[in-house]
Amino acid sequence: MHAIPAQTVLTDLSRHYLELEEKYGAHNYHPLPVVLNRGSGVHVWDVDGKRYYDFLSGYSAVNQGHCHPAIVHALIEQAQRLTLTSRAFHSDLLGEYALFITSYFGYDKVLPMNTGVEAVETAIKLCRRWGYQVKGIPENKAKILVCADNFHGRTSTVISFSTDPSSNRQFGPYMSGFEIIPYNDLQALELALQDKNTAGFLVEPIQGEAGVVVPDEGYLRKAKQYCEQADVLFIADEIQTGLCRTGKMLACDHENVRPDILILGKALSGGVLPVSAVLADDEIMLTIRPGEHGSTYGGNPLACKVTMTALTVLKEEKMAENALVLGELLRNELDSLQSPYVKGVRGKGLLNAIVIRHANPDAAWGLCVALKEKGLLAKPTHGDKIRLAPPLVITREQVLDSVDIIRDSLKTLDQ
Ligand SMILES: Cc1ncc(COP(=O)(O)O)c(C=O)c1O
Repeated sequence: MHAIPAQTVLTDLSRHYLELEEKYGAHNYHPLPVVLNRGSGVHVWDVDGKRYYDFLSGYSAVNQGHCHPAIVHALIEQAQRLTLTSRAFHSDLLGEYALFITSYFGYDKVLPMNTGVEAVETAIKLCRRWGYQVKGIPENKAKILVCADNFHGRTSTVISFSTDPSSNRQFGPYMSGFEIIPYNDLQALELALQDKNTAGFLVEPIQGEAGVVVPDEGYLRKAKQYCEQADVLFIADEIQTGLCRTGKMLACDHENVRPDILILGKALSGGVLPVSAVLADDEIMLTIRPGEHGSTYGGNPLACKVTMTALTVLKEEKMAENALVLGELLRNELDSLQSPYVKGVRGKGLLNAIVIRHANPDAAWGLCVALKEKGLLAKPTHGDKIRLAPPLVITREQVLDSVDIIRDSLKTLDQ
C-alpha cells in the first residue's frame, strides 16, 4: 500500500471509509485520499462537506457534468418502467436508440456494449471477421496494428498488446495477432501496412492514459489515407477523446477523418451507468451474425434511454464549443504561470495535461494532494503527468478560479 502523504488532512469519517476499502476491497487502484459522496456539474463534495472542482471527470465519463438533471431524469423515469430485457427479446427502445445513434454519428449500424474495453474487444472481433470474410485474409492470420503506449482497457486480449508492464506483467500468455508500431509515426505505419494480412489499425486519436499525447497535425488524416490504400480498417478508440472532450464531437473530426470502426464509451451515459458502442457500416457490421457476439446488458432499455439523453445534452448545451474555447483559455493561463515545475502544457479542448519537472519523482502526486487540499481534484498518470480534464460544463470564471488553485498549489513544490 502507498503511504498517505503527510500533508493530507483526514477526518475520522474519511479515514473510516478509506480503511473499509483498504481492508475489504482489492488493491487494484491507488486513489487520492478523498472520499466523495455528492456531485453536481463541475463539483464534487467529500463526506465532510468540502467542495472540489473535479478535474478528472471520471476519466472523461462525466463530460456533461455530475448528475446532469436531464440525464438523471431519464434514468429515473426509465428505471421505473423497464431496465433489462436481455437480447432474447426486443425492447421498444433498442431500435429507437440504434436509429438515434447511427444518425448522430453517420454510420449504418451500432453494436451496443457496456464498458469501454468490451467495445474495443468487439471492434477487434469485427475487424478480424471483416479481414477473413471481406478482405480474404487466410483464417487465423489476421493482424491488427496498434501503437506503443496505447491504452485500450484491461482484458487479457487488450493487455496483450499493451507496452506498459504494469498492465500486462505476469498476466501472460498473451493473445497473438497484434503488431505494435510507434505512435505518431507515419513511416512505421506505411511499412507495417505492407503485410497483406493486416486487417486493421487501432488508434487513440490522442493518447489519454499515456499523458495526453497529441499527435502531429495531419497524422490521423494521413494514417486513414494509408489504411484506405492498403484496404485496412481504420479503427478509432474515441472512448476518452470522443463526445466533445477535445472541442469537437470526435477528436477525429479535427482532421475530417471518418473511422471505419468507431469505438465510444464513458460519456455516452454522462457517467450514470456503463454504456459503450461500436459503430460501423454494413460491410463490416453484418459479418457478425446471431449468436456470435453479445452481452447480457448490451443495449438494455435503461442504457438506450440514458444515452439518447446524454448525447442530446452534449449538442443542446454546445459542449464541444465550450471545450474548444475554454480549453484554449486553460492552456494559455497555465502557460502564463511560467512555473519552473511545469515542463509543458499540452492537450486539445478540455483534455489536457501538465508535465511536472522536479527533483522529487513523487512531485506530481504531492502536487495532486496539494490541489486537493485547496479544492481541486486531479490525478497523476505515468508519474510526472497530471491530466486536467474538467466536465465540459465548466465556465470561464471557474477555469480562472481553478488556475489560481493550480498556481498556489505549485508553490508548495518549493518546500
Ligand atoms: C482510450 C480508452 N480505451 C478504452 C478504455 C477502457 O474503458 P473501460 O475502463 O470502460 O473498460 C479507456 C479507459 O480509460 C480509454 O481511455
